[in-house]
Amino acid sequence: MTVSQQLQPARRYEEQARTRAEQAPRPAFHLAPLTGWMNDPNGFSRYGGQYHLFYQYYPYAAHWDDMHWGHAVSQDLLHWTPMPCALAPDESYDRAGCFSGSAIELEDGRHLLMYTGVQKERTPDQEETILQTQILAVGDGTDYEKLADGPVLTAADLPQECTAADFRDPKLWRTETGTYLCVTGCCDDAHDGRIVLFESPDAFHWQFRSVLIRNNGRFGRMWECPDFFPLDGQWVLLTSPQDMREQEGGYHCGNGNLCLIGSFDEETGQFTPEHDQPVDEGLDFYATQTIQTEDGRRVMIAWMQNWDTLSIREPDAPWMGQMTLPRELSVRNGRLIQQPVRELETLYRETLSYQDQRISGAVRFDGITGRQLDLELELRPEEGTTYRAFTLHFAEDADEETYCLLRVCPGEQSVTMDRIHSGTRRALVHSRTCTVPACGEGHIRLRLILDRFSAELFINDGEQTMSMTFYTPMEAQGITFACEGTARIDLTAHIISE
Ligand code: FRU
Repeated sequence: MTVSQQLQPARRYEEQARTRAEQAPRPAFHLAPLTGWMNDPNGFSRYGGQYHLFYQYYPYAAHWDDMHWGHAVSQDLLHWTPMPCALAPDESYDRAGCFSGSAIELEDGRHLLMYTGVQKERTPDQEETILQTQILAVGDGTDYEKLADGPVLTAADLPQECTAADFRDPKLWRTETGTYLCVTGCCDDAHDGRIVLFESPDAFHWQFRSVLIRNNGRFGRMWECPDFFPLDGQWVLLTSPQDMREQEGGYHCGNGNLCLIGSFDEETGQFTPEHDQPVDEGLDFYATQTIQTEDGRRVMIAWMQNWDTLSIREPDAPWMGQMTLPRELSVRNGRLIQQPVRELETLYRETLSYQDQRISGAVRFDGITGRQLDLELELRPEEGTTYRAFTLHFAEDADEETYCLLRVCPGEQSVTMDRIHSGTRRALVHSRTCTVPACGEGHIRLRLILDRFSAELFINDGEQTMSMTFYTPMEAQGITFACEGTARIDLTAHIISE
């Protein structure tokens, strides 16, 4: 396989940057690029006995620019080994970027990548237009070759209502009958999102099947990064709508994330949603992608960052962007439930447990400190009373001036995550509150996973989640529990090894 003129320098740069990059502080068990910029997860797949995760990547600097595909492999979904850059924008049809896409293992043992090629053109009156098409590349797990024939899906394959400028992020899968399907994001001239379904007998020849669903102005505008799969007897569509407005149901303005659960009519290719919810109600979450593991679990990963919060970052780090923990999905009572992958338990170094502790005012527990922790907490009011608020400070420094905050307010049926005191010097949204009706009586189960620069919260066994990043100096390791009123907690803390 020949390595292209654009891919060679990217790989060479990765080698040169390796030493500095390896010395820089980085997440312990979340994927971040060794060097440069990372956004969406791409090509999440199992191939050659390992998990492969590719990502939107600019190797040369920690900001978004000409999109390449970065690459890493893992046995356990938690420890990732960097691989050489997989794709560079080196063809006429992807000169302006190799945008997001997906991957599968082919029957003949090759690894197939499907991604969006972006091309910029000038109209006769010199206006710049963008053209997005879908491209295939095949490889052996390290080197990938783009198909010589160029795009396999272009604007000509789209229904009239869709534009060629916003036609991206193919997610393909093999069906039970051995044919292939693929969904992409799309929109009309007014930027109203659609998900379009394509089909193929062999994963190489594609044709339009149906418009799976139209946004009709309900959730933001263009829908990016779709994924569509059956789960627990229903069909689930995950997508990331751009330009959301603040709206009921826990949706925030900006770049959002959406889960629709419903039924799929395979005859007509139409998806009818019955339930909707945000996937994650925290600050940094976008662009989900899933995989089905060999043991049948549906596992999702997302970019733990958001286009609206890019200025929250480690200013001098050679890397920018990290993924969430992979999360096991299920559907219960019309809701998407998320749990961290069970492989996380293999990283526990020590477990501490404090049962039925009475909390009134602020307390710390021996041994419960640090920035690599899986903390399980069950909270209830002292018998016959209520409490006003329970707060947890984490990543707290010795002066208690710098910290992140988690707060449960039963009276408001709310859970808040906040990083305003995390040491940030940037003015952007730093706090999110989500409504948890079930905590009205003061009963709630929380699971908080810390990995140096991030916190992921799973509320009531994964019924809701909140994710955020923060860049507090590593010396801030304190964890303080406090209650206005009196609460009782059961606490189990798993300290996570490197
Ligand atoms: C989502 C997204 C995708 C696109 C990629 C470009 O975050 O905008 O739609 O393929 O990022 O990097």
